[in-house]
Amino acid sequence: MRQFEMSATTKCSERIRVGVIGCGPITLNAHVDAIAKAANIELQAIADRDEVLLTEVKNRLRPARAYPDADDLLNDPKVQLVVIAVHDRLHVPLVRKALGAGKHVLVEKPLGISVEECESLRHSVTRDTVLAVGCNRRFLPGVRATKKFLREEGGEVISYRSHYYDSTFRHSVTQVNKFPPAVAPGAHVVRPEGPDWKLTDKRLYDIVTHSPHLLDLARYLVGPISAVRAAYREVSVHADGSPALARGHAWWIELRFLNGSNGQCLLLLPRAGEFEEGFEVHCSGGHVTCSYPYVWFQRENTRIYSASAKEFRSPDAQDCHTFRLQLEALARSILTGSPQANAGLEDGIACVKAMAAASYSSLHGGEWVEVESVAGDVGSPYVIGRELAAVG
Ligand SMILES: NC(=O)c1ccc[n+]([C@@H]2O[C@H](COP(=O)([O-])OP(=O)(O)OC[C@H]3O[C@@H](n4cnc5c(N)ncnc54)[C@H](O)[C@@H]3O)[C@@H](O)[C@H]2O)c1
Repeated sequence: MRQFEMSATTKCSERIRVGVIGCGPITLNAHVDAIAKAANIELQAIADRDEVLLTEVKNRLRPARAYPDADDLLNDPKVQLVVIAVHDRLHVPLVRKALGAGKHVLVEKPLGISVEECESLRHSVTRDTVLAVGCNRRFLPGVRATKKFLREEGGEVISYRSHYYDSTFRHSVTQVNKFPPAVAPGAHVVRPEGPDWKLTDKRLYDIVTHSPHLLDLARYLVGPISAVRAAYREVSVHADGSPALARGHAWWIELRFLNGSNGQCLLLLPRAGEFEEGFEVHCSGGHVTCSYPYVWFQRENTRIYSASAKEFRSPDAQDCHTFRLQLEALARSILTGSPQANAGLEDGIACVKAMAAASYSSLHGGEWVEVESVAGDVGSPYVIGRELAAVG
């Protein structure tokens, strides 16, 4: 009988005590379930300044403590690992505080918004603390099998292509059926200063919110990204159940990898139809096609062709609960000191640099931009050595 690494139903005797900062949609839709099921996790505390959201998550998860502020949670000596699930622009200051309080950290993607703020975290990580970024797609069975295939049999990567299609059915079908009932927050949700890009700048909102998954996976599978060029355009799609055309958005990002391979990422928000994410990689030793309909469906389909074995393989894809798997993997490396399987600080920095480079390129006629030459934040990136251009 197959030996499972972790049981999703039995809690281990040795567990990491977790505190969650932020009781917004990602916590309600993903982390609540992941924490309840993770074998080596015990929930110690939650925090949110919004009392409606705090009460909702408290009722669902029954933590030992529920705090009105992040600082209170960070002062709780029982909390060992902090999950930071707050607005993207609030990530870095909280990560710094949590590391300073001696906690291990899992911060939602993206690590931050500017290259400089992310790089400054290098001073905060110590040998005693683990920092992980929530690139949960790394934990799909097909992604893990692809990584192994590329390492052992794939040889040279010739090309890589990935896609992320949001769905016109999101609100009418998926939201109502896949997620717990939505909770209307109270009046005290903490938001960062400055414009809400979701309302004012879809170009920025879409790249910051969705592209980290594509960019991190490309780097994880193929290797460091050396340059990107990108184009952004607004498109029209038929909204679900309506003949009227709605606004959609498309990001087209081309990648050059340090190892000489080329790649492409297509972000469609939404496409007229169902969700889909996936990638295709061709290499000297075979090829892989991996498709996962939507991370919350917890299903995927992967086919790996090994040229040396002359055979197709389809990895077992029964356990696709990537939010639970990333937590369990992180707790395991904290408990045992084993190498970190989660994306780490340097992965998070590289992803923010690639986003800033793509943002810069899309504003400058789609020119190739060396990733290491970019600084600033994703909203106002600039190329080091060129005249500083505030392009936000
Ligand atoms: N991995 C994924 O697939 C995925 C999917 C969706 C969202 N996300 C990420 O998750 C993060 C959170 O998203 P969201 O939509 O839940 O955000 P949100 O802003 O709606 O909710 C965050 C919550 O954190 C609380 N908060 C912020 N600072 C606080 C503080 N100092 N003390 C106490 N409470 C505080 C806010 O009051 C708010 O309720 C974002 O970074 C987003 O990009 C990841």
